[in-house]
Amino acid sequence: MKTENPQSFAGKTALITGAGRGIGRAIAQLLGQRGAAVLLQDIDGAAIEQSVAEFGKEGIHARGFVSDVSDVDATLHTIGEALASVDILVNNAGISGQEAEFSGIDVANFDRMMNIHVRGAFFLTQRIVPYMAARHHGRIINMASNRGMVGYHRSSHYCAAKAALLGLTKAWAREFAPHGILVNAVAPGVVFTEMNTWNGMDPLHEEASWNLLKRWAEPVEIAYLVAHLASDEAAFITGQVISPNGGDPIVGI
Ligand SMILES: NC(=O)c1ccc[n+]([C@@H]2O[C@H](COP(=O)([O-])OP(=O)(O)OC[C@H]3O[C@@H](n4cnc5c(N)ncnc54)[C@H](O)[C@@H]3O)[C@@H](O)[C@H]2O)c1
Repeated sequence: MKTENPQSFAGKTALITGAGRGIGRAIAQLLGQRGAAVLLQDIDGAAIEQSVAEFGKEGIHARGFVSDVSDVDATLHTIGEALASVDILVNNAGISGQEAEFSGIDVANFDRMMNIHVRGAFFLTQRIVPYMAARHHGRIINMASNRGMVGYHRSSHYCAAKAALLGLTKAWAREFAPHGILVNAVAPGVVFTEMNTWNGMDPLHEEASWNLLKRWAEPVEIAYLVAHLASDEAAFITGQVISPNGGDPIVGI
């Protein structure tokens, strides 16, 4: 066992997709505060620019990359040689299902959902894993959702995309373990980000009443779990789905 601070990421590089705002930004900030060099990827150039500038003032070593994660070639090209340095990959970029009724989900909506959550994560991971394997060390954390485990009565394409990430997590955990790479999924309940406030939904209303703590999570509460999974303290955890959901629902045995 190492004796130095296991929560320090000094000397490590983390790539977080969808890091311009919300949960991804909170993860990048926390890992950066704990010493990681952070690579922030997002489709929103202004958000990336602002986050990188703000993190710089905190003394965090941050770089930004602007691309659509579902555009595999563009994303790999944009991040370029920095891909080789990634020790911690957080596949976080995502869009909400915007409470879509089943009958209203068209082919374009469906493909976009799958392409961002599944194709984007798949091919970015595929490119980075050989570098991690060469160092015999890596951490991959897939941002799934409570809804990918228990379903939801609207947004079935979102639930399907998140369930696909759980399948990838388990398959990759098996496939990459011999190379020293641990793979886990974080499946949050409802979190206080723009993903949930886009339609004016009140954080104290509806979904908050479904969990035992009667509130939404703050993004940093999800980041704390990601930081744990990325740390040396989580060296025996792989292939798992951990759901910070305030007890909504309590699943499994
Ligand atoms: N907020 C929640 O309640 C909640 C719950 C469970 C899971 N999640 C998941 O957590 C992740 C982050 O969600 P959030 O709540 O922070 O949402 P958010 O909308 O606040 O942030 C998502 C970020 O992803 C970026 N993004 C969207 N499409 C992209 C693309 N094609 N390429 C690159 N970046 C893209 C956005 O620009 C944004 O910065 C998502 O995968 C989401 O599905 C969120």
